[in-house]
Amino acid sequence: MNSYYLKPNIVAEPLVDGWYAWAHLIPPATLSRNITERHLKIIESYIESPETHEAAVKDPRLLGGPFMDLKQRRVQDVANLRERTLHERGHLIALSGAIEQLDGLLREKAVGFSLEPLYREVPQALRGYVELVYDLNNQPSFRLIEPLLYKSPYHNCWLQSMALSEISGDDRPFVLSTPRLEDEDALRLQIPFASQQLDCLFRMKHEPSSESAISDALGLDGPDQARFRSFLTTERPQPYSAYDGDGARWRYFGHACILVETKDISILIDPLISYYGYPQEVDRFSDMDLPDKIDYVLITHNHQDHILFETLIPLRHKIKNIVVPRSSKGLLQDPNLRLMFEHIGFKNVVEIDEMETIHFQDCLITGIPFLGEHADLNVQAKICHFVQIGDFRMLFVADSNNIEPRLYDHISAIIGNADVVFLGMECDGAPLSWLYGPLLTESLARDKDSSRRLSGSNFEKGKCLVDAFGAKEVYVYAMGQEPWCEFISSIKYTDESNPIIQSNRLIEHFTNKGIIAERLFGEREIFYNKYH
Ligand SMILES: [Fe+2]
Ligand SMILES: [Fe+2]
Repeated sequence: MNSYYLKPNIVAEPLVDGWYAWAHLIPPATLSRNITERHLKIIESYIESPETHEAAVKDPRLLGGPFMDLKQRRVQDVANLRERTLHERGHLIALSGAIEQLDGLLREKAVGFSLEPLYREVPQALRGYVELVYDLNNQPSFRLIEPLLYKSPYHNCWLQSMALSEISGDDRPFVLSTPRLEDEDALRLQIPFASQQLDCLFRMKHEPSSESAISDALGLDGPDQARFRSFLTTERPQPYSAYDGDGARWRYFGHACILVETKDISILIDPLISYYGYPQEVDRFSDMDLPDKIDYVLITHNHQDHILFETLIPLRHKIKNIVVPRSSKGLLQDPNLRLMFEHIGFKNVVEIDEMETIHFQDCLITGIPFLGEHADLNVQAKICHFVQIGDFRMLFVADSNNIEPRLYDHISAIIGNADVVFLGMECDGAPLSWLYGPLLTESLARDKDSSRRLSGSNFEKGKCLVDAFGAKEVYVYAMGQEPWCEFISSIKYTDESNPIIQSNRLIEHFTNKGIIAERLFGEREIFYNKYH
């Protein structure tokens, strides 16, 4: 009987090697570095002092830090995980070591002469996968040939799994520092992210299916099948009511996630969607407020709060096109997003470059340069989006840091004004090492590290940006404040937090000038009756 739906409060956590999956755990080189320099280090530290971890996860000042948040003390299980990792991930551990050795080799021997003799000394694990290069100032580095690494034994989609569990509240601990140990409450599906069975599963959020068909497709039997049955319901979800006016509507779903719709098109930016079906203190749009087909998903940049597999994989069957910023080629810190998405089952990945345009129906999407917020690393997989529907123009700048206001003068001279600007103002971002530390092969002095941050615009920079586009409305977003975003944003602001002070100033400034200005939180819906 085709009568079961997947309950709306079932979380499917995507995992790689038992750790919460994010975009650096798919490309083989960044995965290898994260295994040795993040996962194994957190594991060692926990085994050495579980009490430090237990205390740290209770301290709000350490939210998002490298501490395991386990329900009870699990030293033996974590020690087993270490043994398993060392034993079964030997080739990835070797790859990580080879990256470190190659950096050392280049520092020592690449001093301006031809690099050709050094190929013989490239560590075995990387031979044939790198090109050695200098920049014009004789600074040596290497370029990874990523498509080959994905085809090599370093990429194994069977390290991927999904952990299904039922939630009853928004409160979820920060996910990136705690491995999922085997015997926790979640039902573990050992299944690659690209598998079509997952599309069948997530379709059941809205289309009923038979319990035996989906259990068979997922290979479930015995207690797992019984457990899975408890995730299903016969209750039909509310059907989605599409926007059918003559203008446009946008809806804020939390953090940087906005859905823009006309009666003909839908565009979803940086998807991060809440679950529903449990008591909620903050109103929000959720999965039931998404259309059956999403024409374009736009991704702004490769940070864990903007590329969230936990939302994206369940939406994959609805997404017609996913637009990603074009990255550099082969830089360790800038893995190619098109390749990454293709290797987790997205078949319709479109790259967009700076000032490049995608045109469909009466809509134009232009990639706008995104400065900063990446600790001065050469990361090119970042882009703002200028979305024009008819003559209605919206600019989404995400976390872009307006470190050089002349940039936006140049851009507005070319593309003109924007009616609406969405501006991230997380102006006290984490230091470089928080995200990119595992990729460094030489430690960075603490004062340098803390001077290089993942920070967005403050009041002054935000004001210049909005002025450059003569916007009539400005919305501060991407602040990670909603309770259902904290598990990934690790942000808990107070009224005294600088990003709140700075964004309050911005709102006050523009409100005084007669411009609509607000900081988005929870849910928001705005209609534009006519845009032609
Ligand atoms: Fe960011
Ligand atoms: Fe962000």
